[in-house]
Amino acid sequence: MSARSLLKQLFQKQPIFDMHRGVLCAPVRYCFMMGVVWYLAERRSCKNLNILEVGSWYGASALTWAEGLVRYCEAVGSITCVDAWQPFFDERSHEKDVYREMDAALASDGVYDVFLHNLSTLPATIETQHIRGKSRTVLPMLRPGCFDLVFVDANHVYSAVVEDLRNAAILVKEGGILCGDDLNLQLHQCDEAFARAHGEVDYARDPKVSRGFHPGVTVAVAEVIGRVCEWGGFWAVRKAGECWESISLGAMPEVYPAHLPSSLVEDARAHMADIRARGEL
Ligand SMILES: C[S@@+](CC[C@H](N)C(=O)[O-])C[C@H]1O[C@@H](n2cnc3c(N)ncnc32)[C@H](O)[C@@H]1O
Repeated sequence: MSARSLLKQLFQKQPIFDMHRGVLCAPVRYCFMMGVVWYLAERRSCKNLNILEVGSWYGASALTWAEGLVRYCEAVGSITCVDAWQPFFDERSHEKDVYREMDAALASDGVYDVFLHNLSTLPATIETQHIRGKSRTVLPMLRPGCFDLVFVDANHVYSAVVEDLRNAAILVKEGGILCGDDLNLQLHQCDEAFARAHGEVDYARDPKVSRGFHPGVTVAVAEVIGRVCEWGGFWAVRKAGECWESISLGAMPEVYPAHLPSSLVEDARAHMADIRARGEL
């Protein structure tokens, strides 16, 4: 019996995320992901949104887009997931356990099998497809300007993010959203020389504000887009001709996707309260 059939028998229509590193993102960001779907649904008469995500892992973000479509778009829309589901960390510069464990999970196909199961739990009105391949090969094959929302969350080193963002930007429709994860600091907030010198590592501690961040994401977002709207590490901008505009999520409903384990929802609510208290929403 294949791994996928076994998962189907054991879990039926229940998505699986409560394993180690099942959810990688800070949980509050899933609320902002649904927020950008709400934002587009409020502004577009056509509610049939086409969503592309680059970097899916077990599918926590993909199921979040789907829940956004269910809540705000009458459960109609499409989600395309691009991921290689292959080890991707350069082991010479990424020796920590977290990187070894992620690569091992990808190498065994365990992540891919659970992703397939998780996607199979979505309502049939939501069209889903996944393309298993490197983003640098797959994105240039997609039709320019055909996605309402493109989310970039694959390899976080500078050389990868800059290429993903350039390729992704072309795919966004006029008025659509380009967004991404793990922008813990923007370039104007950190030590720029340090960020540039450490662009090819996944994670580092900024000496100026003494906070952990992904230097590659910070530098690539600044170079390809400039300053962006950012909430708890999730960022988004709206395409307006040749420019990228700010968006406001101040009026979005504060809801968390049903597949998030309940302990993470508590964490997310506390984080959201901090974001509001700092006036960042
Ligand atoms: C941070 S995880 C994505 C997390 C996911 N968005 C979520 O919220 O659960 C990064 C994913 O990007 C994929 N990835 C890394 N480099 C890639 C590349 N060059 N092309 C395609 N996928 C890649 C990895 O296989 C991994 O699944």
